[in-house]
Amino acid sequence: MADPIFEDSRLVAIYDSFDGERRDLVHYIELIKELGSRSVIDVGCGTGCLSTLMAREDLEVVGIDPAKASLDFARTKPFSDKVRWICGDVDALQSSLSADLAVMTGNVAQVFLSDDSWLRTLFCLRSALAKHGHLVFEVRDPSKKAWLNWNRDDTFQRINVPRIGWVQGWCEVISVTDQLVQFKWSYLFESSNNLVSSLSTLRFRERIEIEKSLWESGFEVKEVRDAPDRPGQEFVFVAKVAESE
Ligand SMILES: C[S@@+](CC[C@H](N)C(=O)[O-])C[C@H]1O[C@@H](n2cnc3c(N)ncnc32)[C@H](O)[C@@H]1O
Repeated sequence: MADPIFEDSRLVAIYDSFDGERRDLVHYIELIKELGSRSVIDVGCGTGCLSTLMAREDLEVVGIDPAKASLDFARTKPFSDKVRWICGDVDALQSSLSADLAVMTGNVAQVFLSDDSWLRTLFCLRSALAKHGHLVFEVRDPSKKAWLNWNRDDTFQRINVPRIGWVQGWCEVISVTDQLVQFKWSYLFESSNNLVSSLSTLRFRERIEIEKSLWESGFEVKEVRDAPDRPGQEFVFVAKVAESE
C-alpha cells in the first residue's frame, strides 16, 4: 500500500501543483536518448509526469506504480494513451519484458526500506531488461542531510490549485533513526477547512551500499552523475546489465 500522498485522491489532485516545475525530467529524457534507449520502464511513475513526457518523445513506455489513485490521475494527461500503465510493484512486471532501460525518479529508489525489498526490486528490474539494458535512478546523498530543511518554515507553500482552490502545504520530520527518515506532509484545504496529512519514510543509503547492491543483482555501475537540478545533493546512478549476465 502506497503512502496517502500517492493513494488519497484528494492529495493526488494537488500533488503536481505542490511538486512545482520538474526541471529534472528534461535531463532524464536527454540521458535516455544519450543511452540510445527506445523502450523504458518508469518504476514508481506516480502521476505520470515523466511517463507521459517520454511517450510524447515517441518512446515505448511502461509506467508502473502501486498507487491506483496516482495512476488514475496520470491517465488523464496528454499522451497517457500511449503509455502502458501497470498498478503494482515490480513483481507485477511480466518476465517477457525486455526493455532497454528502467528509470526511478523522485524518491522512488528510497522507498524500499529493507535490504530485501531493495534487492528484490533490483533483481526484478534486471529480469525485465534486455542484455544491453540500463538502469538509471537518483538518490539523495545522505551526507547532505536534506531532511534538516524539511520543516514548516522552509517547506510552507500556499497554492491556488485549479478547480480546487487555495491549499496550504508543509512538511515536518517525525523521526530520524539510522538511515530511516520519517516525515509528514500536511495540507489544509481552505475552502473546506479540511486538514489532510500523509506519513512517509525514506531510506538514505550510502553510495557504496548502493554500488554493492547493484553488483549483487547483476548490474555494473557505469557512472554516478550529479543531479543537474539539485547540484551536489544527489547521486544519479547509471548502471548497465553486467557483461557476464
Ligand atoms: C516521490 S513519488 C515519485 C513519482 C515519480 N517517479 C516522479 O518523479 O514524479 C514516489 C512514488 O513511488 C511509488 N512507490 C511506492 N512504493 C513503491 C514500490 N514498492 N514500487 C514502485 N513504486 C513505489 C509511490 O506510489 C510514488 O508514486
